[in-house]
Amino acid sequence: MDSTSSSRYGETYARWRDDPSAFWGEAAKKIDWTTPATQVFAPDAGVYGRWFEGAVGNTCFNAVDRHVASGRADQVAIIYDSPVTSSKRTLTYAELKHDVATLAAVLQDLGVKKGDRVLVYMPMVPEALVGMLACARIGAIHSVVFGGFAAKELATRIEDAEPKVILAASCGIEPNRVVPYKPLLDLAISMSAVKPEHCVVLQRPQGPATLAEGRDIDWAQACAAASAAGKAAPCVDVAATDPLYILYTSGTTGKPKGVVRDSGGHMVALTWTMENLYGIKPGEVFWAASDIGWVVGHSYIVYAPLLAGCTTLVYEGKPVGTPDPGAFWRVIEEHKVVALFTAPTALRAIKKEDPECAYKKGHDLSHFRTLFLAGERADPDTVQWAETQLGVPVVDHWWQTETGWAIAANPVGLGLLPVKLGSPTVPMPGYDVQIVDEAAKPVPAGTMGSIVIKLPLPPGCLPTLWQQDERFKESYLVDYPGFYKTADAGFMDDDGYVFVMGRTDDIINVAGHRLSTGGMEEVIASHPDVAECAVIGVKDSLKGEVPCGFVVLKAGERRAPEVIEKELVGLVRDRIGPVAAFKLAVTVNRLPKTRSGKILRGTMKKIADHDAWSIPATIDDPVVLEEIEGILKDRGIG
Ligand code: COA
Ligand code: AMP
Repeated sequence: MDSTSSSRYGETYARWRDDPSAFWGEAAKKIDWTTPATQVFAPDAGVYGRWFEGAVGNTCFNAVDRHVASGRADQVAIIYDSPVTSSKRTLTYAELKHDVATLAAVLQDLGVKKGDRVLVYMPMVPEALVGMLACARIGAIHSVVFGGFAAKELATRIEDAEPKVILAASCGIEPNRVVPYKPLLDLAISMSAVKPEHCVVLQRPQGPATLAEGRDIDWAQACAAASAAGKAAPCVDVAATDPLYILYTSGTTGKPKGVVRDSGGHMVALTWTMENLYGIKPGEVFWAASDIGWVVGHSYIVYAPLLAGCTTLVYEGKPVGTPDPGAFWRVIEEHKVVALFTAPTALRAIKKEDPECAYKKGHDLSHFRTLFLAGERADPDTVQWAETQLGVPVVDHWWQTETGWAIAANPVGLGLLPVKLGSPTVPMPGYDVQIVDEAAKPVPAGTMGSIVIKLPLPPGCLPTLWQQDERFKESYLVDYPGFYKTADAGFMDDDGYVFVMGRTDDIINVAGHRLSTGGMEEVIASHPDVAECAVIGVKDSLKGEVPCGFVVLKAGERRAPEVIEKELVGLVRDRIGPVAAFKLAVTVNRLPKTRSGKILRGTMKKIADHDAWSIPATIDDPVVLEEIEGILKDRGIG
C-alpha cells in the first residue's frame, strides 16, 4: 500500500482485523433493530458461524418506513426511466410505503406467511421492487428470476424454491421485441412438479396476458381493492439470521445454486458500503444499471440505496440503441445521478458505437462523481477510455452473487487509493483474501493461484445454499479447509492489490452475466445426433466472452452439420434462454483429449482466442488440435 496515501482504508481495515465483532457491532448501529444482537458473531451457529445472533428487525422497515418517519416521506425513493416504453415515473418514500404495504396485504390475504417463498419474474419496473420489499415486509423469502431465462430454467427454480405465490409481469420489453413473460411462466409451471397457489400478474399495455381463472390475480385490481379497503400490512419482526431472499446462480452443473441471503448481516454490510465504499450520502441519486434479476440489482438497485435513504434509479433500457449511445449521459444529467454502477461490457458497447463520446456533448454531468464497474474483469482499455471521456474516477470492484457485496474495491468513501489498471484494488474489511496453490499453501506475491477467503465470511455473504448445507460445504468449503473458495484465480502484488484473472471452474462471463458451460453441454448432449461436446468461452470484443460449442456428431449421421448446428443454437436458447447468447456451434471430427480421456478445454480456448498455445504432453492425438485450429480459421471464429 502507498504509505503516503490519505485514504483511511489502511486504518479501517486494521480496525476490522483487530476486532471483527467490534467493527461490525459498530456498523450495526446504523440499523434500527427491534432487538439488538446478543452476539455479533456466533462461531458455533450455522455452517461457519452466524452474524447478529439474537437480533430482530425488518429490512423493509429500514429501507422504507423509517425514512418516511424521519422526514424523507416526500423525497423520491425510486425514479423509473424507461426508454423502451417512452415512460418515466417517480415514487416518493411515502408512496413506496403505501404501495409496498398494500401489496404485502394482498400477499397475506393469499396466505403468504413469514418463511414462505415468493418467486418474482419481472422486468425492470418499479413494481418489481415493490414486490421484493413487500415480501421483506412480511418476512416472506423472495426469489427473483431474470427475464432472459427460458421456461425450463424458471421451472428448475420453482421446483427448488417451492413458492406459494409468484409475482410476475405480463411481458418484458427488449429493444427489438416484446417478450411475453406470462406464456413462459405458464409453461414453467406446467413443467414443474411444484405448483404455486397463485400468480399475481402486472398487466402491461405493451403485451397483456391471459389470466388463468382461480389461480391468477390482476396485480392492479388486487392492490386497488386492498387500498380501498384500507389494508396495509405492518412490518413483521424477523430474526437477523432469517433468509431475506434466495438468488439462483450458475453452478458447475445445469442445476443452479440457491444462494441464501440473511436479513440482518445484509442490512449492516450494504449500509456500510454506501458510505464507506461508494461515498454516497442520504438523499443522493444512485444508479446501478443492472437488472433486479442479478445480485448487483438486488444489492444496489433495491436494498443498499434505499437502506441509505438515497434515491435509486430503475432503468428499463440498454446502454446503446435505446435510442442511442448517449442514453447513459442523458439519464445521468436528467436525474442528477452522482454515481453509476455498471458492467464493463456496457461501456464497451458505448465505446464501439461512439468511440469519441460525441453523444456526451451538451450533457451537464458536473454533479457526477464516480463510475463503478463490476461483473467481469475491467479491461484496462475500457477503464482508461471511461476515465478520459468522463473525467471522474473509474472504480473497478470484484464480487460474486455469493458475497452480495464487494470483496475487493477502491473505497471512495474512505478516500481513493492509487488506481492500478487491471486490479479491483484491495480487500474490503471483512475479507481476509489469500492466494493459495493446489495444496492450500499461500503463494508469494505476484504468483498466480486460487483466490480464497479466510472464514468466517463477513456479514451479508451467504450463510449456506437453500436447504443444501452439504452442497454448500462441497462447493465452497472442503477444498481449502478453513477458507471459502471463490473459484476465481489471480494474484496479489506487494502492495496487497488483488488481480482477478478468471475462473477456475467452468463458469464463463458473457456480457457481465454468469453462465455455466457445463449447463450448456448438458443441453447440447441431449440432442439425438450429438455424440459428445465441449463448450468453452471464447474472447469477444463486446461481451468479454461468448460461448462456443464443439460437437462431435454420431456416426452414420446424414443430415448436414450446419442444420444440426442451427438446431443446437435453438435448443440452448429454448432451454437456457436468450441470455446464454449461444450462437456458435462448431462440428469437429474429434475432441482433443488427454490419454486419460479429459477434454483439453484450456488448449481449445487458447486456440480460439489466438493466444500462444503448445501441445500438452498428456495429449492422446496432437493432430486433433491442428484440425480444430483449421476449422476455427475457416469459420473466422475467435
Ligand atoms: N428478458 C428477455 N430477454 C432478454 C432479457 C430480458 N430481461 N435480457 C436480455 N435478453 C435477451 C436479449 O434480447 C438478447 O436476445 P437476442 O439474442 O434475441 O438479441 C439476449 O438475451 C442477450 O442479451 P444481452 O446480453 O443483453 O445482449 P445484447 O446484445 O442485447 O446487449 C449489451 C449487449 C452489452 C448492451 C448488454 O448485454 C448490456 O447492457 N449489458 C450490461 C451488463 C449487465 O447489466 N450486467 C449485469 C451485472 S452488473
Ligand atoms: P456473479 O456471481 O454473476 O456476480 O459473477 C461473479 C464472477 O464474476 C466472479 O467470480 C468473477 O469471476 C467475475 N467478476 C465479477 N466482478 C469482477 C471484477 N471486478 N473483476 C474480475 N472478475 C469479476
